[in-house]
Amino acid sequence: MTRKRVGVLISGRGSNLQALIDACEEPDYPAEIVLVISNVPGAQGLLRAEEAGILATAINHKSFASREDFDQALCRALNGATIDFLCNAGFMRLHTEGFVEHWRDRHINIHPSLLPAFKGLDTHARVLAAGVTITGCTVHFVRNEMDEGPIVAQAAVPVLKGDTAESLAARVLEAEHALYPHALRLVASGTVRVDGERIIGPDAPNQSPLFSPPL
Ligand code: GRF
Repeated sequence: MTRKRVGVLISGRGSNLQALIDACEEPDYPAEIVLVISNVPGAQGLLRAEEAGILATAINHKSFASREDFDQALCRALNGATIDFLCNAGFMRLHTEGFVEHWRDRHINIHPSLLPAFKGLDTHARVLAAGVTITGCTVHFVRNEMDEGPIVAQAAVPVLKGDTAESLAARVLEAEHALYPHALRLVASGTVRVDGERIIGPDAPNQSPLFSPPL
């Protein structure tokens, strides 16, 4: 089995990165992480990568005059490591159109809601304010619009009585840690692929794992 060479973009804590690192240790996992880049120097995720023996570097967006310059620096680093596939894991920058086009259909992101609902920031507070009873998380291919693109996999998480944005975020995060490795396996193995804006693959691989904590 040839493993896909994966780059991961982060901005902070890197707990989803850790879930991917742990998954890549499984002998039959179809991907290996070869490079981690943070736009924030000193991000905790960089330490996680280093501890796992993965090349990790910071490319500070603040050192660049424009978004284009920053994205070109990202691309140079990624291409230098011959990356096949790119995962955003808590990467808090919007990409330029050129970057999105370069990585089109080889680039996925995780978002802590059941897309297309609740795109953007402060997701959990908005979920609570809206009074929805089920939320979750989504892994999707990256497109130009924020938190848009063909959906690879989703996990549902109940909103519980008394939830705060923090308690809900923690429960969804647990689901993210199961979902992201599952989704990367689907795309890296070729089980799921994207054709235009349509996902192609076996029936409903994207409905598992459903995440059900004790009620
Ligand atoms: C996650 O909830 C992810 O879905 C969102 O930002 C958070 C990043 O957490 N985009 P971590 O850095 O992976 O711990």
